[in-house]
Amino acid sequence: MLSAVERKIDQFINDLNDKEVSLLYTKLPHGKRLRAKLILKIAGSNLSVVKTAAVVEMIHAASLLHDDVIDDAYTRRSKPSLNALYGNKTAIMLGDILYSKGFLELNNISPEVAKIVSNAVVQLSLGELKDVSLSKTFNIDKEIYLDMIYKKTASLIEASAGAAAVLAGKPKDAYLTYGRNLGLAFQMIDDLLDITSDSETLGKPALHDFVEGKVTLPYIYLYELLESEDQKRLVLLHAKVLSKEEQAWIMQKMDEHQILLKCYTEAKELIDEAVELMNENGEEALSDIAQEMIDRNF
Ligand code: IPE
Ligand code: IPE
Ligand code: MG
Ligand code: MG
Ligand code: MG
Repeated sequence: MLSAVERKIDQFINDLNDKEVSLLYTKLPHGKRLRAKLILKIAGSNLSVVKTAAVVEMIHAASLLHDDVIDDAYTRRSKPSLNALYGNKTAIMLGDILYSKGFLELNNISPEVAKIVSNAVVQLSLGELKDVSLSKTFNIDKEIYLDMIYKKTASLIEASAGAAAVLAGKPKDAYLTYGRNLGLAFQMIDDLLDITSDSETLGKPALHDFVEGKVTLPYIYLYELLESEDQKRLVLLHAKVLSKEEQAWIMQKMDEHQILLKCYTEAKELIDEAVELMNENGEEALSDIAQEMIDRNF
């Protein structure tokens, strides 16, 4: 049960026995808890499962604390981000505390779960670094984009599904593949929502990725489909603060070339593949949560 996961996270934070950390943690609102839900859905809710879900959500929160520093983002989960409230130094250290407490607790679960989850955090960090370096260029190579989102986002979702399978004594490989597909689709939709949604609904900055230099899948496809003059115009707008007119031009071109539908369809294909794989394994109950990964507005 999700409430048991919330209690476990609170307990892990209390264990640290540090008033400042406890206060800071209250400034970080809960997210959708999709990773925890996925773990519970696959593995039920015994103590090891609850601990794993709690650790994964702490690690995910740590990654967001660092991500908002990296992305100069001042809103998270509809509240001011920790870096906005207390500065980068505090946000980075709270991230480190959550990461390391998470790793410490992994030792009390199982060596295999510890290995799967900690390896995912290595990948996540490599992915975030790649995202930073890619944002300095106008990357139009889709394979490079896919490798980066696999690492920064899909790896932890893949590990969540894989670790849950291990805990439940289910065949790990199918669940890893399922989680990987969910994770890739999830980040594709996140990149889409940055364009289609508004900051209020998202609870984090909208139309922010391109300004930050992130050439996400919609921009890669748009570039591919534009005439060469327009391609040049798009490249010139990369990593700049955009005027209302420039934003409108991008949106109009996205519309004209049906980019958003193209990206959604691609994410949907990954989800359908994942659902089919689970159906083959007699796991029909895992299709709703897969669908939730892409049919969301924040
Ligand atoms: C946000 O993840 C970061 C990405 C991987 C896109 P979520 O959208 O799951 O964030 P919360 O936990 O619900 O806030
Ligand atoms: C970050 O991706 C994914 C992480 C591993 C933290 P984004 O930078 O797109 O996530 P949001 O949009 O800020 O949540
Ligand atoms: Mg970000
Ligand atoms: Mg980021
Ligand atoms: Mg994003």
